[in-house]
Amino acid sequence: MSVTSLNHAITSQYPDGVIAIIAMDRASVERTALLAERLSLPVIVEKQRSDFDLLLQVSELGVSLQPTGKKAPGATSADFVSGAVAHRRQFGGGKGQMIAKAVGLKGSIKPTVLDATAGLGKDAFVLATLGCEMTLLERSPIIHLLLEDGLYRGSFSIDVMDIIQRMTLHHANSIEWMTEQSEAGQSFQVVYLDPMFPHNDKSALVKKEMRCFRPIVGDDLDADQLLDAALAIAENRVVVKRPRKAPFLADRKPSLQFEGKSSRYDIYTLKKLEN
Ligand SMILES: C[S@@+](CC[C@H](N)C(=O)[O-])C[C@H]1O[C@@H](n2cnc3c(N)ncnc32)[C@H](O)[C@@H]1O
Repeated sequence: MSVTSLNHAITSQYPDGVIAIIAMDRASVERTALLAERLSLPVIVEKQRSDFDLLLQVSELGVSLQPTGKKAPGATSADFVSGAVAHRRQFGGGKGQMIAKAVGLKGSIKPTVLDATAGLGKDAFVLATLGCEMTLLERSPIIHLLLEDGLYRGSFSIDVMDIIQRMTLHHANSIEWMTEQSEAGQSFQVVYLDPMFPHNDKSALVKKEMRCFRPIVGDDLDADQLLDAALAIAENRVVVKRPRKAPFLADRKPSLQFEGKSSRYDIYTLKKLEN
């Protein structure tokens, strides 16, 4: 694993009352102060919890994002060691999973993949589990921190450390990053895109994550621009994950589609993947 923070132009300012940071134990007070400075967030104490919609909670166990208020769901974090992601690693269906087919994993073909909308890294982790070398880009400073923290914790777990080794995270706006890097001659066999989309999936997990994500990342209204930048840096294909009924990204018809129950993968083929 390697983690870098590249894009200092990214702003980390949120309107008043949206998000604050809190230390959950004595041992985390110093780290909380450092993170507060890095993210320009106010540090609060327990009795101020209800003054904010979201809290970034720092504890010895890691960093998590907790919505406040009545009926608030539990905290969200990037956890590669336990919970749903770990379960999928063990029982998720390997190369038979739709994401694996969409990316082109087959036999000994394990493409290099740029995940340009990393989020909490779940899709990237699935692909890294299957042997792909993953480069991850995330522009939201808060989501990037959650992912960085999850990767760091995973790097100490005997069960997933080898997988985490295949995941390299950068803090960057992918539209700019892909444009710059492709002009400099860099390429990836596959670029994977999963921008936010205002969909109506009512599942508990999606609702919980959306409640955490939306106030800080919005709806990725510039998502269409990702496609051109991705096509410029991809050698073999660009894969776009979309809610099943959503329009094509940038209104561009893909070469191939895989459809699941709630989502689909649109594939823009450039060149056949080979060993
Ligand atoms: C729906 S989430 C991705 C979820 C991810 N596939 C997973 O498995 O956890 C979309 C993420 O893409 C990020 N994003 C959108 N546009 C971006 C861009 N231009 N550069 C970097 N990150 C971007 C958002 O900040 C958000 O965290």
